[in-house]
Amino acid sequence: MIPREKLASIRDLFPVTKRQLYLDSSHQTPLSGPVRDALVSFLTEGYETAGPKPVWVRRVEDTRASVARLFNTSPAEIAFTKNTSEGLNIAANAVPLEAGDNVVLIEGDHPNNAYAWLNLKRKGVEIRFAPLKDNEVATAKTFEPYIDGRTKVITLSHVSFHAGQVHDLADIGSLCKGRGIYLIIDAMQSVGVIPIDVKALHISVLAAGTHKGLLVPQGLGVLYVANGLDELRPAYLAMSSMLNPPADYIARPKDLAVRRDAQRFEFGNVNLPDLHALDAAIKLIESVGVNAIYGHVNELGDLLLRKLDQLGITVVGPRERGKRNHIYVLNLPVTEWADFFARNDVRVSPERGGIRVSLGMFNSVEDVERLISVIRAGQKEELSAITMQLD
Ligand SMILES: Cc1ncc(COP(=O)(O)O)c(C=O)c1O
Repeated sequence: MIPREKLASIRDLFPVTKRQLYLDSSHQTPLSGPVRDALVSFLTEGYETAGPKPVWVRRVEDTRASVARLFNTSPAEIAFTKNTSEGLNIAANAVPLEAGDNVVLIEGDHPNNAYAWLNLKRKGVEIRFAPLKDNEVATAKTFEPYIDGRTKVITLSHVSFHAGQVHDLADIGSLCKGRGIYLIIDAMQSVGVIPIDVKALHISVLAAGTHKGLLVPQGLGVLYVANGLDELRPAYLAMSSMLNPPADYIARPKDLAVRRDAQRFEFGNVNLPDLHALDAAIKLIESVGVNAIYGHVNELGDLLLRKLDQLGITVVGPRERGKRNHIYVLNLPVTEWADFFARNDVRVSPERGGIRVSLGMFNSVEDVERLISVIRAGQKEELSAITMQLD
């Protein structure tokens, strides 16, 4: 767990912790002081100097290096996008796929990933779905029955948004490497909260937004594209994608060579305010360490599960360490409980199977205890409502 004093100083950086019980980091991050300061100083520069664009663009490269550190890779393998969906659609349209090839996904995984690939059905690409129970994690075995000689891509979320499973990317990555299959990962729910070593996991492409574990407002995504996958070609082109961008800004029809690095997938101007914020956010994350954040939310998860057991409340996803991390979907009827939590100033999300509690670096043991006492009060309220109905 993050030491008490350190946690207190982190909580000071997230003023929301003083106002409500925030257990909704998987929906969106609350903003921290360093992120707000970075945004304010960007706005002030724009306001007072009409924008020192070359300085801003240089800082984008600092942020690229920060993102690369997070994934244990090089800045040349990082591009900036708008969100997860854009990154996944870029990947779906970049992989060389022909009619009759197939792509395997997990049934019920996030629709933003599913649609990116389903859109390829019009090209004759077959999209296969491997079934998976909410309390199971995906491993190589999940995919094996669905792959054959025409399988070109396996794609899934690292952490599922609706049950919190942490899928076994090491095992799936080994399968993909052995079979020459691209592994394409939606890391929206894991980035910043779980250490991700893209090389060790044999990930070909990884896409994520930055408004959850990476702590900045919506509108910015990161895209990792492994070096050497030159056959992955961008479906769109802009000057920023070109190997020889024309200095006179006149397009050369005969020179359509694209950059070899991941920036061939970057189109035009990027989200400069958010990129300033992201650098500050990653520095905040690094001041704690992704490993420490991972351990912290895991231990809070242990505590939450123990306390839920005492209340007789089960979770939808897996309980074993390593198979879950910071997302816990409580088996509580959504209609009654979503409203009850809102009335008690507890921020959680309604989910397919119940109420989603998601933990962040700023959450504490006291937060978990407060949640439990609110649930206990809710159970009593439920009981008295039933008694009233019987009376
Ligand atoms: C697994 C997963 N993928 C993608 C998204 C969102 O996609 P985007 O960043 O394109 O809005 C979410 C939730 O917001 C998610 O949980």
